Amino acid sequence: MKITLSVIKADIGSIGGHIRPSDKVKQTVANYIRDNSKGLLLDSYISSTGDDIAILMSHQRGVDDPGIHELAWKSFMAGTEVAKDQGLYGAGQDLLKDAFSGNVRGMGPASCEMEFEERPNEPFLFFAADKTDPGAYNLPMYLAFADPMHCPGLLLSAKIGKGFIFTIMDVNYTKGDRVIELKAPEQLYDLACLLRDNERFVVESVRSRASDEIAAVVSTSRLHNIAGKYTGKDDPVALVRAQGNFPATGEILSPYRIGHYVAGTMRGSHNGPLMPVKLNSTVSFFDGPPVVTCAAFCVHKGKFTEPVDAFDHPFWDWVRNRTAEKAAEIRQQGFSGPAMLPYSELEYGGVAEKMKELDERFIVREAKPAKTHKKQAA
Ligand code: F6R
Ligand code: MG
Ligand code: MG
Repeated sequence: MKITLSVIKADIGSIGGHIRPSDKVKQTVANYIRDNSKGLLLDSYISSTGDDIAILMSHQRGVDDPGIHELAWKSFMAGTEVAKDQGLYGAGQDLLKDAFSGNVRGMGPASCEMEFEERPNEPFLFFAADKTDPGAYNLPMYLAFADPMHCPGLLLSAKIGKGFIFTIMDVNYTKGDRVIELKAPEQLYDLACLLRDNERFVVESVRSRASDEIAAVVSTSRLHNIAGKYTGKDDPVALVRAQGNFPATGEILSPYRIGHYVAGTMRGSHNGPLMPVKLNSTVSFFDGPPVVTCAAFCVHKGKFTEPVDAFDHPFWDWVRNRTAEKAAEIRQQGFSGPAMLPYSELEYGGVAEKMKELDERFIVREAKPAKTHKKQAA
């Protein structure tokens, strides 16, 4: 049976700043989906990560289906009404357009979708990150699908060892989808060359070379590019199929022990370590650190099992403690150097305005006439 998994997520308002949506808003979104999904969905799961609400859906309508996108959009609209009634902060923040036009892409919410022939048992992982952007998944995807240091399956399994095809998107290009396909392992250095730049080149999807099946998809939208100004970080979602022709769940999770530095956290303008946290976690220190959750599922004939919280294990407490130390460490240097993002990535205009004003006050010193040396008497 062919099924589609779609995740559509948005920040439509939260309590106490950009911390967490209210229970009532989440419930409103869930109720809307429940009451309006007949004939559209096979199953759904609503969750929040930081201030974002994500709707995971299974159906048979393929990717980019207007009916599915409209259902998610309208459920966020319903949630926004409640967020406004409750006076939540940033109510409707990610709904950037007034009228729905067939697809949430380019309208504010982030989405990622994959269509595939369901295996007899179909384990998959649903990742959701807050206070960061889509490039946050670059390193974990590279390590899980292309590096035997994290994915020994690349050595131990002939099927996985055939490698994977990465589709990378240039997210700075706004006139359309500018993408490139690169093969691992032959083109690893090309891949690394692009993926080192998390703000511009983003993993959009990964496919198995053994079976040509879709393995992973990531939301790639940049709110900054859509709105032309700061409207919050992009807070990306991702879906990854596990086991069999794909890396094992533990191989996919392995790179998250690094707590690698990503863009985001306070005012979307700093670098902070990506902390793997439990489902429905909030954010706190310095509007961060950037967080990622992982719900593990099996889907059968389009029906989800209950989610298992992949980061709810004593091992990840140790990782969280180490990541907290990394967060505190980079904060020691405040605005200096790599602690704050480069000029082009700052999400607020304050520095640009100040630079304009200061620029006019710079002076170029006039060159002083060169001193003449008196000849010394012989
Ligand atoms: C980061 C984020 C927050 C806000 C900050 C100020 O992605 O959402 O760090 O940027 O709390 O928020 P505003 O500008 O809404 O007062
Ligand atoms: Mg937000
Ligand atoms: Mg958010």
